[in-house]
Amino acid sequence: MAYQIKRAAVIGSGVMGSGIAAHLANIGIPVLLLDIVPRELSTEEQAKGLTLEDRQVRSRIAATAVQKLLKQKPAPLAAKKNLQLITPGNLEDDLDKLKDVDWIIEVIVENLDVKKSLYEKLDAVRKPGTIISSNTSGISINAMAEGRSEDFGKHFLGTHFFNPPRYLKLLEVIPAQTTSPEVLEFMKEFGEDRLGKGVVEAKDTPNFIANRIGTYGLLVAVREMQNRGYSIGEVDSVTGPLIGRPKSATFRTLDVVGLDTFMHVAKNVYDQTTGEEQQVFEAPAFIKQMVENGWLGAKSGQGFFLKKDKEILELD
Ligand code: NAI
Repeated sequence: MAYQIKRAAVIGSGVMGSGIAAHLANIGIPVLLLDIVPRELSTEEQAKGLTLEDRQVRSRIAATAVQKLLKQKPAPLAAKKNLQLITPGNLEDDLDKLKDVDWIIEVIVENLDVKKSLYEKLDAVRKPGTIISSNTSGISINAMAEGRSEDFGKHFLGTHFFNPPRYLKLLEVIPAQTTSPEVLEFMKEFGEDRLGKGVVEAKDTPNFIANRIGTYGLLVAVREMQNRGYSIGEVDSVTGPLIGRPKSATFRTLDVVGLDTFMHVAKNVYDQTTGEEQQVFEAPAFIKQMVENGWLGAKSGQGFFLKKDKEILELD
């Protein structure tokens, strides 16, 4: 079967999903960006007399993410007009529209059970031959494919973009045992030729390659800060701008990734390792506390740095 991607859908319109949708729009691919229905009305919605049943409210999360694309820096969109190629919606109402797309990219919360329950829905609605991929940071691709139809299994794989998706060149492509060789080859070629990425095929090991090494490095740096009394500023200076890596300082990276997502990613390796190696992947209690406080990093306006601290949180 010859594959081609004319239309796509991204499910999950958070930090990564909105950026991936923008990257697809930049290369001329119309994309449906879906999220869940909000659990509560905002104050403005209440004042307008809207209810949770109103279409405008139901698609609010994805619609807000699309609007934010115009304000983010560095710009996720190559041109403002590319925004027209992104249609926001909510999964519940728009499931049927997934029949019309050639590629569905799952970019929701880093949790195996939540992802699997989404795949069950997608398996029932997608047309045979539709490619489905996960942007997981490191959950097992084989575990996610378990229990699905044969056609789903053949067309399922990991496509792991890095943050921000328009600017970071790496794309890890991770086949499941069930992924057909044609789908894997197609996706690697598409990644290089159309998405403009440097594709690395990775094995289905916890956190694949980049996040296995990256999470290790971040956790060691955080622990050194605590144990040796360095300040956050000192660690960021010597792991970032002062050594010629202006965008990859330790705590700044954690804020950009999102501390909740980082905790899930670290736990994924922690749960699958033992002994000394496992101890490195134990996230410090103070980061757990920050997540409980709602200090999630750039996306919530407060992490190690405040959002208003533009020099630190904005990438250009
Ligand atoms: P996020 O927390 O910013 O966004 C997740 C979005 O998914 C939210 O808008 C949420 O409402 C939505 N969502 C949750 N459950 C859903 C469901 N059942 N159906 C539809 N939408 C649902 O998370 P982020 O950072 O965008 O991460 C998403 C995925 O990408 C995760 O698997 C993460 O590990 C991975 N990733 C994250 C990176 C980062 O730097 N933040 C980098 C590379 C991968």
